[in-house]
Amino acid sequence: MKIPLAMALLLAVAATAAAFNVTEELQKEPDYSEFNDLLTKSGLASDVNTRNSITVAVIPNSKIDQLRGSLGQTATEKQLIDIIRVHIFLTYINPAVKNEDQQITSLYQTTGKAPGQDGTANLTNTKAGLDIVMSGSNTTIVKSVKQIGYNLSIVEVDKPLTPNGVLPQAPTPAPPPGTVPAPAPVPVAPAPILAPAPGLAAATPASTRSPGSASDQSSAPRILASTLLLGSSIVGFALLWARSKPRSKRRVFNVVNPYSNSNLDNIALRIWRRSFWLEPHEGEIACCSSDLELSQTILSD
Ligand SMILES: *[C@@H]1O[C@H](CO)[C@@H](O)[C@H](O)[C@H]1NC(C)=O
Ligand SMILES: *[C@@H]1O[C@H](CO)[C@@H](O)[C@H](O)[C@H]1NC(C)=O
Ligand SMILES: *[C@@H]1O[C@H](CO)[C@@H](O)[C@H](O)[C@H]1NC(C)=O
Ligand SMILES: *[C@@H]1O[C@H](CO)[C@@H](O)[C@H](O)[C@H]1NC(C)=O
Repeated sequence: MKIPLAMALLLAVAATAAAFNVTEELQKEPDYSEFNDLLTKSGLASDVNTRNSITVAVIPNSKIDQLRGSLGQTATEKQLIDIIRVHIFLTYINPAVKNEDQQITSLYQTTGKAPGQDGTANLTNTKAGLDIVMSGSNTTIVKSVKQIGYNLSIVEVDKPLTPNGVLPQAPTPAPPPGTVPAPAPVPVAPAPILAPAPGLAAATPASTRSPGSASDQSSAPRILASTLLLGSSIVGFALLWARSKPRSKRRVFNVVNPYSNSNLDNIALRIWRRSFWLEPHEGEIACCSSDLELSQTILSD
């Protein structure tokens, strides 16, 4: 009688251990709550849970801004999800044991969106430890967070992986304030619809300010210029959007100041059927609180 009972207990333990829930594992580790949040919101947690031999390279909360920052202000939600996919590998890696140098495949590679092999990485032993090198980017595994059988490994890495091909294109230089062109002329080629917010990208980094402009003294013209610049970018987008959606509903978007990434108070972009315009707006806008969501909304509609 004793032996079958022991076996039954073992089987019961094995049966419950077979399933894992990455969300719950990470909930036990408050240091990674933000990554856990991204994993859940992106829907990738349930993908991870269906797999069998997988490593999630997590970034502590203190470095999550590096991940968002690497994408820039023009990133779409899809790019954020892709960068999370980059941190999920279809190989069980236990940093506590000796690992052979090997090529590992990320979940991003499986989407077919990675140019060539940009979604695969090399796992290599270096003096610093176990490195992951991936298309112009690398990181080091700092420690094991959780190992479950040969099924789920959660490891902490010292910085986010930001491989080529996932990141938005480098911003094109913005024209200096004062020479901001009028909103784009009407005929627009259809190709840019799939590009990551090209107009908005033109207005992003502080480095695009014209050399020698004393930012203290010129902040009013700069805000005006960026409003115009952004306005024309959004108008260009809205145009594409309106052309592709003849029966669109009335939509209101926040207008974002690209220099501070904050909303421009009381100015909204309204889209109604094939028309769109900037107008004064009081109160909350339910739809889009940032250019990230705005571009996403337009691109995914
Ligand atoms: C994993 O855990 C989270 C949080 O407890 C829960 O919401 C989710 O439904 C779980 N997923 C599965 C597949 O059980
Ligand atoms: C990984 O290693 C292979 C073989 O050495 C090499 O061809 C490839 O370029 C490497 N990939 C990366 C991302 O460094
Ligand atoms: C890792 O990235 C750093 C820059 O962040 C670079 O200096 C270094 O050469 C890279 N290492 C490898 C093995 O690619
Ligand atoms: C790993 O997954 C396999 C297949 O689902 C399962 O049989 C095994 O018990 C799991 N191991 C652990 C430790 O969860």
